[in-house]
Amino acid sequence: MDQYKKPVLTDPIERVAPYDSFALDVLAGLSEPHKSIPSQYLYDDIGSRLFVEITRLPEYYLTACERDVLAANAPCIGSYVANAPFNLVEFGPGDGHKTSLLIDHFRARRFDFCYVPIDISPSAIATLCPTLRRDFPGLEITPLVSEYFTGIRSLSRRSRRRNLVLFLGSNIGNFSPDQARRFLRNLWLSLNHGDILLIGFDLMKDIDVLRRAYNDDQGVTAAFNLNLLKRITRELDGNFALSRFRHFGTYNPASGAMESYLVSLTHQHVHVGAIRRTFPFRAWESIHTEHSRKYLESDIAALASDTAFVVCEHLYDSKRWFVDSVWEVQKTDRKSVV
Ligand code: AVI
Repeated sequence: MDQYKKPVLTDPIERVAPYDSFALDVLAGLSEPHKSIPSQYLYDDIGSRLFVEITRLPEYYLTACERDVLAANAPCIGSYVANAPFNLVEFGPGDGHKTSLLIDHFRARRFDFCYVPIDISPSAIATLCPTLRRDFPGLEITPLVSEYFTGIRSLSRRSRRRNLVLFLGSNIGNFSPDQARRFLRNLWLSLNHGDILLIGFDLMKDIDVLRRAYNDDQGVTAAFNLNLLKRITRELDGNFALSRFRHFGTYNPASGAMESYLVSLTHQHVHVGAIRRTFPFRAWESIHTEHSRKYLESDIAALASDTAFVVCEHLYDSKRWFVDSVWEVQKTDRKSVV
């Protein structure tokens, strides 16, 4: 049993370059009794491309549902910002497909707005902007390659315009409940009185529908999850044998989330050169890689109230599987705002 004990970190951590948080998170996550790696590392260039493929799969209903919501409700969303110039800010814009529906509507109505996509990945921004410039000639775009809050704070300092912030795709569902509250509280603090947040939530539904969405027939979700091991092998000099692991996506009723795991098919040892560690795996031992929370309306109300946002309305798709919720920032006692 000794080999399965948490490794004692005798080597000093300074051996790992201090900026390499991937190496440190892999070290910490694979050293836990229940192994896990934060889901943010699923999104290298290959992972991001695989995720775009996922959004086009018939089983992955979330994207189509949200597109429905935006197409049917663009006038309603526009009504929150129509009366003055505004910034259309988007966190993690992806391929911009869904947002194009809003941009299209806003331009047709001759709204005065600037599109501000914010993403930590320079390549995501570099791919998106030429496409939008081609599709919407003359569109004012101020792309920000930065962490979300740094971006929104610098924007709020520079621009007096109202912000309509998009946080779509149920990305909030990838946070733990605590992380989600901290993220939204931080966002509220970074925004100004009157700013609007449009935030996507995947609603709780039939468990078989959920399970299919994260275990598609073509195996794209499996490839997306297994790519994490390829990434460790490539970037951190690991020796994961992909054929000895499988993707496993399952619904956890206790957390109300779809959870993704990589399961070791055999007893094995994996070495990660960059951190000079060998990690033992028991047969059927798992690495938790992602948490995709599903929500009830009451969960959404609680999250908004815990983080001081005011819920204006819920916008649903025709199946009522997904909701984009419109939240407003009200800072009545503005002196008390941090
Ligand atoms: C990005 N995020 C909202 C997706 C989700 O549904 O949790 C990531 C994903 N993972 C597997 N399929 C999709």
